[in-house]
Amino acid sequence: MASFHGEFCLGLVIICSLCVTCGSTVDNSFHLEQVVLEESSIANGFSGILGEIEKQNVCHIKNSSCSFQDIQQLLSCEEDLKGIGSLNTTCQLNTSLQLHNDVLIIGEGNLEILPHVSVSCHLAGCVIGINISGDLILGENSSLGAGTLILDAKNLSLQKNSSLNTTALGGVPPPQTSGTPLGVDGAGGGHGGRGACCIKDEGKDQEDTWGGDVYAWSSLTNPWSYGSKGGTTTREKELGGGGGGRVKIVVSGILDVNGSISADGGDGGHEGGGGSGGSIILLVPKLKGTGAVSASGGKGWAGGGGGRVSIKSYSRQASLNIFVH
Ligand SMILES: *[C@@H]1O[C@H](CO)[C@@H](O)[C@H](O)[C@H]1NC(C)=O
Ligand SMILES: *[C@@H]1O[C@H](CO)[C@@H](O)[C@H](O)[C@H]1NC(C)=O
Ligand SMILES: *[C@@H]1O[C@H](CO)[C@@H](O)[C@H](O)[C@H]1NC(C)=O
Ligand SMILES: *[C@@H]1O[C@H](CO)[C@@H](O)[C@H](O)[C@H]1NC(C)=O
Ligand SMILES: *[C@@H]1O[C@H](CO)[C@@H](O)[C@H](O)[C@H]1NC(C)=O
Ligand SMILES: *[C@@H]1O[C@H](CO)[C@@H](O)[C@H](O)[C@H]1NC(C)=O
Ligand SMILES: *[C@@H]1O[C@H](CO)[C@@H](O)[C@H](O)[C@H]1NC(C)=O
Ligand SMILES: *[C@@H]1O[C@H](CO)[C@@H](O)[C@H](O)[C@H]1NC(C)=O
Ligand SMILES: *[C@@H]1O[C@H](CO)[C@@H](O)[C@H](O)[C@H]1NC(C)=O
Repeated sequence: MASFHGEFCLGLVIICSLCVTCGSTVDNSFHLEQVVLEESSIANGFSGILGEIEKQNVCHIKNSSCSFQDIQQLLSCEEDLKGIGSLNTTCQLNTSLQLHNDVLIIGEGNLEILPHVSVSCHLAGCVIGINISGDLILGENSSLGAGTLILDAKNLSLQKNSSLNTTALGGVPPPQTSGTPLGVDGAGGGHGGRGACCIKDEGKDQEDTWGGDVYAWSSLTNPWSYGSKGGTTTREKELGGGGGGRVKIVVSGILDVNGSISADGGDGGHEGGGGSGGSIILLVPKLKGTGAVSASGGKGWAGGGGGRVSIKSYSRQASLNIFVH
């Protein structure tokens, strides 16, 4: 339930998904997520994002009582990441890792996730931040997954079938911006586009037959909201798919994507609505590859709305596929 909106100016390509079909109430009162960043710090060329996270004494994630001590955990290549080498030279990860809290990986060298290795934190809203001076390479079939991925490197290469995956791992959106539908219609979550709803009740007007709301209009070029969970079909259980997560990539060289970058909403199955897509920001001079970038709504009893993708680059190869539906 969303369409593309492309804007070309001075080499910037900004793609946002907008809801074209509903034309109903649009909530402009987007409130910054309690969470993370001041919007100004995003606008300021993305500088100091990881620093912001460290400084802020709030917690974005799992619950209101966790602290940012969690994310100040800097990891070492061999001891913490069970890899080979050093983050100041080249660190190769050859062992899959399941993380249980937010982490920052910082170094002056390169980081390589070897083929088939997966590094992930499966908690909704969990953050993995990587800020290295060298190159970040994801080998064939490897993956990096969390609710929020913030990656800053010289070059970032995603080899064939590798993935940066925040699908269905979005954290809790602030109440004013939640697109999770009310009721038990199993409707889809909203975000960049409105969620769908399958109820075709003659007695209901159009307004009632949509799923979750559209939100985050004020941040179209710097989207940084999670997608919303889809609705459920029973009061006993939350059966909707999870909202999509967030990905921010800052690269000063080349982003080469032969794998995928995703912030899709989760599927709701037969009894729940699909989650809505999350947010992706790519700030890269040069974008290449034949892979995919996607912030789409999940499937389900009713589909979730699309999320938002913002790409700022000076050169983009047309072969890269971008999905926001
Ligand atoms: C990465 O670290 C550098 C140097 O500390 C900083 O300038 C930059 O803003 C950081 N990147 C992000 C995305 O925070
Ligand atoms: C909230 O987070 C804190 C710190 O991460 C953790 O110790 C605590 O168990 C969590 N509480 C719940 C209810 O998940
Ligand atoms: C990496 O370099 C930084 C700054 O030069 C230094 O503080 C740190 O100890 C080095 N880490 C390793 C593992 O060599
Ligand atoms: C990773 O590399 C280390 C050092 O070479 C080795 O001891 C370990 O067995 C390797 N682990 C895997 C899963 O291949
Ligand atoms: C980044 O990519 C460029 C172009 O392929 C290459 O020249 C450079 O060595 C790569 N890595 C770094 C750390 O500059
Ligand atoms: C990637 O996975 C495919 C399918 O499982 C396999 O055929 C291929 O050899 C793998 N590539 C590497 C480099 O392990
Ligand atoms: C892609 O990678 C995953 C994870 O390693 C693997 O299970 C799958 O078979 C691979 N698919 C292809 C087409 O290589
Ligand atoms: C992506 O695929 C192209 C064409 O096969 C290849 O030239 C390029 O080196 C690949 N890049 C990465 C990061 O795998
Ligand atoms: C991303 O993760 C989701 C949930 O674990 C999984 O269903 C999906 O296949 C993954 N996508 C990619 C491209 O690896």
